[in-house]
Formats: sequence, structure tokens, C-alpha cells
Amino acid sequence: MSEAKNYKEALQHSIFDTISKASLNLNLESYVIGGFVRDHILQRGTAKDIDIVTIGSGIKLAQEVSKLLPGTPKIQVFKTYGTAMLKAEDIEVEFVGARKESYSEHSRNPVVEDGTLIDDQNRRDFTINALALGLSKKSFGNLLDPFEGIEDLKSKIIRTPLSPDVTYSDDPLRMMRAVRFASQLGFKIEKESLNAITRNRDRIKIITKERIVDELHKILLSEQPSIGFKLLEKTGLLDHMLPELTALKGIDEIEGQRHKDNFYHTLEVVDNISENTDDLWLRWAALLHDIGKAPTKKFSKKVGWTFHGHEFVGSKMVFKLFKRLKMPLNEKMKFVQKMVLMSSRPIVISTDVTDSAVRRLIFDAGEYIEELMTLCEADITTKNPKRFKKYHNNFKVVRQKMVEVEERDHVRNFQPPVTGEEIMETFNIKPSREIGIIKEAIKEAILEGEIPNEHEAAFQFMIEKGKELGLMIKSS
Ligand code: CTP
Repeated sequence: MSEAKNYKEALQHSIFDTISKASLNLNLESYVIGGFVRDHILQRGTAKDIDIVTIGSGIKLAQEVSKLLPGTPKIQVFKTYGTAMLKAEDIEVEFVGARKESYSEHSRNPVVEDGTLIDDQNRRDFTINALALGLSKKSFGNLLDPFEGIEDLKSKIIRTPLSPDVTYSDDPLRMMRAVRFASQLGFKIEKESLNAITRNRDRIKIITKERIVDELHKILLSEQPSIGFKLLEKTGLLDHMLPELTALKGIDEIEGQRHKDNFYHTLEVVDNISENTDDLWLRWAALLHDIGKAPTKKFSKKVGWTFHGHEFVGSKMVFKLFKRLKMPLNEKMKFVQKMVLMSSRPIVISTDVTDSAVRRLIFDAGEYIEELMTLCEADITTKNPKRFKKYHNNFKVVRQKMVEVEERDHVRNFQPPVTGEEIMETFNIKPSREIGIIKEAIKEAILEGEIPNEHEAAFQFMIEKGKELGLMIKSS
């Protein structure tokens, strides 16, 4: 066991004094444990979630703490788990009695018995999450680290307190947590643990989709998400949750022609985009932008490997994937679909940047044009420095043209310069097909650059178009 070190400075928030007093009143030993201690030592900022473990009833301790706090905040009790939660100012505190647990084969819900602090530390997921600081007067801030968690923090290692097969099989969500912490903290999962995850990967089936997605979000939001996704792939977990991605793995070769490994390319794109955005859904778009490539892959002697229509196929797959993982089928999903669908558009136009192509791009991308450009720039993963520079320069030209075109034509949030009412009024007609035809023709003429996006020009164009359709101008 490591020497008793003191981390009193971690306990400056007044809530810790209150918990200390409440514990004294009830004659209980209490400790702060888990993520709060880990993040303090790693200097990852001050956590807003605090986990308190007490040798006794966590619920009673929460009630006592609430009594001592101004306004006696309400506590939320979760009887089945023997836990209680309260919010004090900016902080959320969870109380639990120290437990000994054993799990059944088919469920994450354990059979719980009262236990000692060490029993409780034993049943936790990782040594770095089992660190505890004393809260009683005489041991305030003293570190209890029975599994050398501090050493593991220093050497950046994810390790389980018990045999990894037991820890992961008890609660298979921990396999995802191991990968997530590795990705978030840039830590290595210790070899035995990694093997155990690989062995136990099928147990992930008993975890709800919501919890899995929660971990996937956290992996995606880490600084270098590829760390997490490579580990998910290596352990076989990824195939359980995102088989669309594992299908992108591998390089085929026919007659000396090869295509790139689209799985590793995708991970590079995700890492690239993560340098430029913290937007979770844009990162999802990067992760899924090429999923249509597996089902559309073909080889022809003339052109080699092709993935025709992969953007369209991919955007359809996004819906199925979100549905399967019980992710929201809302605006966020539509955004990801749109990014996947349009993911090649700026690339296609970047070699021949015409005004009309740029106008159409801005029109179709609408409010998400910036995000789309960010995605396309992240998609440049060539290792050839000349090409790398050339592709980036091409996009610079596109961006420059976008500014010019938008300043002049305002197509970004396109509003038809002539309204349906005006058309009806001018030709003295009732709502009809012709109105749609004229409006569409005006929009097309603007996007093609035949007329400017202005009322006067569009009005004249409308009159011409109406005449072509055999409509008569209303005599005033
Ligand atoms: N824990 C565990 N097994 C789990 C979930 C949690 O052993 N499947 C334990 C760990 O000791 C963890 C603590 O409960 O530190 C609190 O869990 P949680 O709040 O989910 O995670 P944190 O470690 O606080 O980290 P984060 O807030 O980043 O999720």
C-alpha cells in the first residue's frame, strides 16, 4: 500500500466540511471517492459530481447533510441501490453505504451487502477510480489507495482492482468505460485487462443502448477519439455497436489496384475534425461520412475501385444506425445525414470553382455550410505534402468564392425574392401548379447566375416565365 498522503487542498468546497460534521453527528466514517479524487490529482479541473461513501447508511448521511445545509435541500433516494443524491449550489453529491457486491450472469443489478471501505474499493471499476480521501476530522484529506491507483495515474494505466474477468463480467459497461477513459485521458489499458475485455466482449449485449451511446459520445468528444475507436475495434466491441464501421476495414487489391483502408481513414478524419470543433454531431458526421462505401464498393477494369453513390447510401444508413442505437431521430440526426449526403460536394467543385456551383453549394448546405467545409477539410488525409497543400488551397479558393458570392447574392438563407401572392396578384390567378413552376424557375435562374437575387430582376423574369406558360397580366 502507498504511504498515507494528504490531499486536503482538494476539499476546499464547504460541502466537505458539512459532510464531515454530518458524519460526526451520526458517528460514521465517510470518504470522497472515485472521479472527484482522480480528476483532482490529474488536475482536470474541479468536478461538479462528488461521490461519497460511508461505512453505514448513505441515505441517513444524506438526510443529515441536508439538515445542516441552508434551505435543507431535497434529497433524492434510490432505495433499490441504497443511494441518495442531493444538489447543493453548483454541486451534485451522491451518497452510498460501503458495499460488498456480487452480480448475476444476466443483469447489471448486483446483490448488495454492507461492507468495509476496502470491500467497496474492491468492487469499483479501476484502480484510478478507487482512490478515496478521508472526511472525518482526524483523517481529513488522507488518501486511501489500496491498489496503487496513484502509481497507475502516474504511469497512465487503466487497471482493475480485482481480476479483470470478474470486474468486466460483473458490469460489462466497464469495458466501454475502460476504452472511454483511455481515450479521454490518453491512458493505456493494461494487457490483462485488454485481453479480458476481448474475452468478455459479448457480455456488452446486456447493456442498454443508451449507456453505450453515452460512452460513445464521450469517446467522440475526447481530444483524440481514434484512441477509443481503435481499442473498440481491437477488442471486438465495435462490431457489436457499429458494424458499419468495421465493414470499412481492409484494403482490397485487384490487378495491382488498391483502395485506401476506409476505417483508418475515417479515424484520421475524426481526429482532424476534433482539432477544429467540439460539436458532438459534427464529430458523428465525420465518423459516419464514409459508411456508404462498404455497400457501394465495386471494381471495374477501366476505372479501378469506385464507391458510386456512397454519400446517398450512407445518409440512409445513418437513419437505421441512429434507430438501432436508440439515438434521437431529430434535427441532430438530420444534420448528420445532410453532412454525409453532401460530404463530397465541396471536393467535387473545388477543381473548377464556378459561381453557380458555389451558389448551389451554399443554397443546399443552408445554415450548415461552415460545418460542411470543416468536414471536407478534415477529410484531407493524404500523406503526400504536395497534394495536401494543393487540396487545402483548393478549399481556400472555394471559401473565398463563397464569401464573394454570398455578399452579392445572399443565397445562404434563401428567401424567394418574388412571393406566391405577388405571382397570383400579377396574373390574377388562384393557387395553382403554375406558381410552383414560376418560383422554381426564379430560384434556378438565380442559382445559375442568369439573374441577380433582387426583386426587380426576379419580377421581370416572372413576367417572362408567366407569358411562356400562357398567363395574362392583370390589367390595372
Ligand atoms: N463505478 C464503477 N463501475 C461503473 C460505474 C462507476 O465502479 N460501471 C464507480 C467508479 O469508482 C467511479 C464512480 O463509481 O469513479 C463514479 O462513477 P461515475 O460518476 O459514473 O464516473 P466518474 O469516475 O465520476 O467519471 P465521469 O464523471 O467522467 O464518468
